[in-house]
Amino acid sequence: MTSSADFIPAPIRPPLFGSECRPLWLLDPEIHFLNHGSFGAVPRSVLEVQNRWRERIEHRPVELIDRRMPELLELSLDSAMDFVNGIPHSSGFVVNATSAINAVVRSLNYAPGDTIATTSHVYNAVRKTLQWVARRDGALYEEISLPLPVTSSEDLLDRVLESIPRNTRLLVIDQVSSPTGLIFPIESILEQLRPRGVQVMIDGAHAPGMLDVDVRRYLDLGAIAWTGNLHKWCFAPKGCALLGVHPDLASRIQPTTISHHAEDLFARRFQWQGTADFTPWLSVPDALAFGEATFGWDALTDANHRLVTWAHQLLCHCWAVDPVSPLDGSMIGSIATVRLPGRLRERFENAASLQAALYDHSRIEVPVMDWSEQWFIRVSAQAYNTPEDYRALAEAVSTLAG
Ligand SMILES: Cc1ncc(COP(=O)(O)O)c(C=O)c1O
Repeated sequence: MTSSADFIPAPIRPPLFGSECRPLWLLDPEIHFLNHGSFGAVPRSVLEVQNRWRERIEHRPVELIDRRMPELLELSLDSAMDFVNGIPHSSGFVVNATSAINAVVRSLNYAPGDTIATTSHVYNAVRKTLQWVARRDGALYEEISLPLPVTSSEDLLDRVLESIPRNTRLLVIDQVSSPTGLIFPIESILEQLRPRGVQVMIDGAHAPGMLDVDVRRYLDLGAIAWTGNLHKWCFAPKGCALLGVHPDLASRIQPTTISHHAEDLFARRFQWQGTADFTPWLSVPDALAFGEATFGWDALTDANHRLVTWAHQLLCHCWAVDPVSPLDGSMIGSIATVRLPGRLRERFENAASLQAALYDHSRIEVPVMDWSEQWFIRVSAQAYNTPEDYRALAEAVSTLAG
């Protein structure tokens, strides 16, 4: 194993990035926080906005919740729609991507003989949802196996198209996969599958704030629905996601909790799923404005991508492991998955105990995954990260692997 010291220099961080901006978050400065991807991290200023919404609501609960909320949330949804180029009349807020996917697939029906498909890169909660719907309807559930490495978008596209089961009625495809961090060529997949009559739903949980999202385009290309979290990469408080469905389907899709507005406009139907905390959704315009005003969204996504691409190269070099995707970063956004040295499996009982060791001994917060019978680590890059965070990880893993 090689030291991180002699590796190519890290990309220059633009002014304000790295340690300088870290106080904008509450994050513990003792921790190398390399897991923005799981739950995001909300900036202090956005938490303050959220708190002000809480106070306004508690000051006049009925006025705010009963009378003003629809109009306030319409403003929030408009700003989110601008950000992802969504279609307002068939979009709405949801608390997370899991509930959006549940809403769509549980509102639809399948028949015995139909196949509900996804890929082996699927997020586990989505896998469970699809398996449940398949059982409910007597349909088949299948995963298209896409072993690593993946060499290019074309390679991924070809493999998805070659292996998609013949009777597939619904395909749920990641925009950015959770375990492998890969960007799927969703537009090409949509173009190829449209003539075959396959319903395609895009799981864009990681996409907003990491990639340029264009929901209108995905729906124009025939996607039945798209969801994306705003609480991961868009700085919104937790419990904040979007669902956009194809306008032709909007009347058929109900939220997971059906309530007063079941026959109302799409956004309204999703907005009211019983009394809830509306403050994450109300904070969206300020969360998006934070990203733009502090860094500029283009500069932020670019800097995160460059840092994680360098980190990906650094970790593969230091641990002498083969990359799972091209080292030029062409298939990743702001997260990268790296194979772990095989020797670690002899030293740790499971992936969770290695993750705990990295946290306990080296103060590194990073997910370690047992995927497809191998161990991987997934690093995130956000504005507050520094090259030092990844060097610390490189050294800690090398030491543990011995
Ligand atoms: C691809 C993907 N889908 C769905 C989810 C679920 O997101 P949430 O927990 O916000 O519902 C995640 C979370 O990491 C994800 O990565």
